[in-house]
Amino acid sequence: MRDEHLQYRLHNGRKISTLLTKPTIYASLLLLSFVIGYLSSSSMSADSDHYRFATRCARPEPPSVVRTKLMEAFYNGSSPYDDFPPKHVAPFLDPAKINGWDSNNAVFGNLIRRYRPKTIIEVGSFLGMSAIHMAEMTQRMGLNAQIVCVDNFRAWPGLDIPMINGDVMLMYQFIQNLVHKNVTESILFLPYSTDAALEKMCQMGLYGDMIEIDAAHDFHSAWVDVNRGYKLLSHKGVIFGHDYFNPTDQYGVRRAVDLFARVKGLRVRTDGQHWVIDPN
Ligand SMILES: C[S@@+](CC[C@H](N)C(=O)[O-])C[C@H]1O[C@@H](n2cnc3c(N)ncnc32)[C@H](O)[C@@H]1O
Repeated sequence: MRDEHLQYRLHNGRKISTLLTKPTIYASLLLLSFVIGYLSSSSMSADSDHYRFATRCARPEPPSVVRTKLMEAFYNGSSPYDDFPPKHVAPFLDPAKINGWDSNNAVFGNLIRRYRPKTIIEVGSFLGMSAIHMAEMTQRMGLNAQIVCVDNFRAWPGLDIPMINGDVMLMYQFIQNLVHKNVTESILFLPYSTDAALEKMCQMGLYGDMIEIDAAHDFHSAWVDVNRGYKLLSHKGVIFGHDYFNPTDQYGVRRAVDLFARVKGLRVRTDGQHWVIDPN
């Protein structure tokens, strides 16, 4: 029995060593390394897709032309405030319906005093409460800043705002609020998705000294907004946003911001409910 066992081991050992000398082993190794290489390279490229945003933004235009350039590109050169409100909308508007979430927190003043922005880009404006707050503050400080509000003015289904043929009147109520507060000269709005508006600004070379991210709260939306917003940040600017402590979507905003900071080697600090990244 023991001899048989010894025989079996010797036989198999010989079989293995014979195999090792055969050219097939080299071919197998070659094939194996090809498979490993392919798998790792395809997983790397899938991974890097998360960090790839195609357009390289144009050379920066001076802040003094931001409003005019945007009016040309988004409104065929006219003003979106002309002849406001349209007759069919006027009866539905509240004289002033201005509410938000932490929209006049100390963070706005803290950053405006520190960065003295000429251009502010707000990604997510709703009824304009935070934009109005920033406009009034920059006006008081004599900064002559231009605030660009990006919002598709759809918010979410079931909004407490009148609707005409399925068209919720959020944008009109936003404009009404700006008119009521007399800040239309300081604020221009772009009623598009964050993707479309920020991409266009990138192509046009329109950058912000302060960029506020406050649109959707799920990880994927926040991830895209933070990446797109950061591309539009001027040299020595600041990017910040709301909802760092908001548990909605399992802290989607915080996960996106923290991942972004990790990838870029930046530090996130907080100011009240807001996150702040000062890259310089
Ligand atoms: C939380 S509110 C903004 C509040 C505002 N910053 C304030 O404090 O007064 C979020 C806004 O983001 C807008 N929004 C969400 N996702 C968007 C998207 N993908 N494109 C454009 N706007 C979007 C919504 O329409 C909504 O008005």
